[in-house]
Amino acid sequence: MNGRDCPHAILTPRPRAQNASMSYAVTRYDFRDKPRDYARLRDELASLLAGERDLIANAANTAALIFAALPDVNWAGFYFLKHGELVVGPFQGKPACVRIALGRGVCGTAAAQRRTLLVPDVHQFPGHIACDAASRSEIVVPLIAAEGLLGVLDIDSPLPGRFDAADARGLESLASQFMADAGQAATRAAL
Ligand code: SME
Repeated sequence: MNGRDCPHAILTPRPRAQNASMSYAVTRYDFRDKPRDYARLRDELASLLAGERDLIANAANTAALIFAALPDVNWAGFYFLKHGELVVGPFQGKPACVRIALGRGVCGTAAAQRRTLLVPDVHQFPGHIACDAASRSEIVVPLIAAEGLLGVLDIDSPLPGRFDAADARGLESLASQFMADAGQAATRAAL
């Protein structure tokens, strides 16, 4: 990859003397001020996705950014609605279950109810689907496009109670930024 192939790398160029190629340096925030740090992360995401409309490319970079930036996360990625069920999309973490029926597990429930689900203890969630046995808490944000449900953004943590209402608002804002760039009808048709 070089600077021309990777326009957002312009944000964080490394001196040519050290490294002739360009790379994206992900900031790892401490999230002691969650609204502030999620707002910064949203700005990073906007720069990362700027000018690109490909759904898979943007989902892959969104998952990678979230996984790299958030502490205590063991899985971050997407499930997209295809022919009435959720199918795993780009993600970071261990290999995951491929298909989830609407109404099943945390992802399928969030998708069916079209609302963010915050699960402090996955062992207490009836029907939780364990893709990574290390996961102890989870948050799932539905992705709603003008045409309807596009899928969900799913984040897992090995810590119980890792996510709170501020994480929910922050991750909803990241999902909304992702949808602004990728949730277009033209890219949805490519699913
Ligand atoms: N735990 C999810 C399944 C997806 S994985 O966590 C990646 C669920 O219950 O829907």
